[in-house]
Amino acid sequence: MSAVREGGVAVITGAASGIGYALAEEALRRGMNVVVSDIREDALAEAAARLTGQGADVLAVLADVTSEENIVALRDKALERFGKVNLLVNNAGAFVGGLAWETSAAQMDWIVDLNFKSVAHGIRAFVPQMIGQGDECHVITVASAAGISVYPGYATYSPTKHAALAITEALYLDLAGEGIDTIGVTVVMPGMVRTDIMNPEKVSPAALGLDREARHANATVRGVEATMTSALDGAMAPEELARRVFDAADAGELYILPNHDNERSTALVQAIANGRATGTNPWPTIMGSTVTRMFSKKEPAQG
Ligand SMILES: NC(=O)c1ccc[n+]([C@@H]2O[C@H](COP(=O)([O-])OP(=O)(O)OC[C@H]3O[C@@H](n4cnc5c(N)ncnc54)[C@H](O)[C@@H]3O)[C@@H](O)[C@H]2O)c1
Repeated sequence: MSAVREGGVAVITGAASGIGYALAEEALRRGMNVVVSDIREDALAEAAARLTGQGADVLAVLADVTSEENIVALRDKALERFGKVNLLVNNAGAFVGGLAWETSAAQMDWIVDLNFKSVAHGIRAFVPQMIGQGDECHVITVASAAGISVYPGYATYSPTKHAALAITEALYLDLAGEGIDTIGVTVVMPGMVRTDIMNPEKVSPAALGLDREARHANATVRGVEATMTSALDGAMAPEELARRVFDAADAGELYILPNHDNERSTALVQAIANGRATGTNPWPTIMGSTVTRMFSKKEPAQG
């Protein structure tokens, strides 16, 4: 049985636009009840109206994923309306270019809270509920190909997406170690997808004074953001990504690298992934015996 099927309840963060919105549409197409959430009130209302116009039962909840209280309230509102949650999609996030030594502590805090700690809040708020339900559930994190790579100007994005990937792998391993087999985990690492990702000003806290022009005074940052913006035109459609993500979750896949489907980039991705001890790779010697014990459920742990 899969959690991403008819009758299930999906909660999606950052669902007012882009990938989150496409995931909401895909969830509805698969017969799920959907809770869409975002920090932008007007955009969220508009998105919910469009989804409801398709005849769906949709709940819209205004929530800032950087706030643990907001995430807990999001869970409670979803439960109040639908009585259960089968799918959590940690999707909200943002990209801002910047050099490692020029990125302010305040900007770093914002992106760490948004791209990484939000995933931790989501796991903490929703997974105990899913364990208690005991039915088929799933957690999806939308990380990024930047979760396994670093580029110039990626001083906040790459570290936070690496962390989003790692905490999702940790969730997978902890569920396996605890013998909880009702909750699936999928981490998505897209390359470029045609969305509004290159417009972080729409969600950045006013106090940060995010200023594209000032940022672009640096040629490296300007170049990286310009390259990414022009790549958006020919990039994967969010609807295509959403379909692949749901297929991967349905098939119980832990990793999905939707833009890495030619031979050369597949080899690159494998080479990078093989350098790490992850959800599916062999364990480093130091962890060997502990992990073997955890995963061989027949043998009781000793010592
Ligand atoms: N578009 C790409 O090329 C690409 C590639 C790899 C990964 N991603 C990841 O995909 C996810 C979705 O991004 P997207 O491309 O759809 O961009 P987007 O800007 O269209 O969507 C992001 C959504 O998140 C919401 N959001 C931002 N801050 C929030 C907050 N504090 N609380 C709640 N919601 C908030 C925004 O309002 C927006 O609706 C992000 O995590 C992004 O890092 C995107």
